[in-house]
Amino acid sequence: MKRRTKTLLAVVILAMLVYSFLPLVRFWMTGPVPSAGKNEDAVAKLADNKGPYFSFIVMGDNHAGLFLNDAATLKEIWHMNREDRFRKAPIDFVINVGDVSWDGERTQFEAYKKLEALIKYPVVSALGNHDDRTLFKEFCGEKEFAFTDRNSLFIVLDNEAGELSDAQFVWFEGQLKRGIDYDNIFVIMHKPPFSPYQQDWYNMDDMPWAYHFRKLCAQYKVRMVFCGHKHMFKHERFDGVDYIVTGGGGMVTEIPDSDGGFLHYVRVKVNHDYVTYEVRRVSPPLWEYPVYYIWKELVYWCRDLYGSGYIFGTNAKILQPRTVGFDNDEYWFKKRNVVQ
Ligand SMILES: [Fe+2]
Repeated sequence: MKRRTKTLLAVVILAMLVYSFLPLVRFWMTGPVPSAGKNEDAVAKLADNKGPYFSFIVMGDNHAGLFLNDAATLKEIWHMNREDRFRKAPIDFVINVGDVSWDGERTQFEAYKKLEALIKYPVVSALGNHDDRTLFKEFCGEKEFAFTDRNSLFIVLDNEAGELSDAQFVWFEGQLKRGIDYDNIFVIMHKPPFSPYQQDWYNMDDMPWAYHFRKLCAQYKVRMVFCGHKHMFKHERFDGVDYIVTGGGGMVTEIPDSDGGFLHYVRVKVNHDYVTYEVRRVSPPLWEYPVYYIWKELVYWCRDLYGSGYIFGTNAKILQPRTVGFDNDEYWFKKRNVVQ
């Protein structure tokens, strides 16, 4: 390659890197914005919605206040705000499944509210384990509540501590009983009741509360459960209930891209009692590749030479990939067939 061509290429790449950084500069230069309100205000805006045909967006783990995260969330917001451009179905609101702040500081909540104000739909936020409880109440409002939109009931739980107490289960079941009057029940909480990634130190699969929770969701025919916590996308099904882990809302993903560790949000579509979803993958701002994402993949490539799975987990090499999407309905169906 000629020297002139190389120089030109370098200038173009540099210009693209700088250009990809500009939204973050604009964000920093924007002063405090009028508050978009708290959870209660967002819910109040849904009261007049009518018709069993609508859409909503689920995101999580944006961890506002760290420049890498905010830049990625800004890019996701740009895409979210364009979701209704074909005007096929109204997008009623956005749900954030928690970890709205980098690590619970006031300035990080302020950054989150600035981001939230850029989203053109009402935003409902759940509490994550990185969110200070007092500041969450001050900035986002209620931590555990239920609300309705059209033909669906949404139950938001506070499980940032890692499990649900007996009192929470009583309240939760009361809300699930209310759900009988609705076509769909959706549950939102930060920590998933299962381990979404292999060889992770965090494992909910064998926790009593997780079993109880999943059985209750099956009993009351919950349509979907939305969680975050792991910075990845994962879909699993237990007893016919769909569980979506969507922790790709901006936080730098530490899980390999090929295993679901990519930035994204989920668009859910409701058509009476049919519910479908689409994963909207959003590539990081260009400048984040040389700063972080190339190195993440390289580290995993090296690790895969002697191990596999989560970089912060155990070291063993997995020879057979873990079974994904284990469906108890199918299991029991097969079992019954064997017995007969
Ligand atoms: Fe998180």
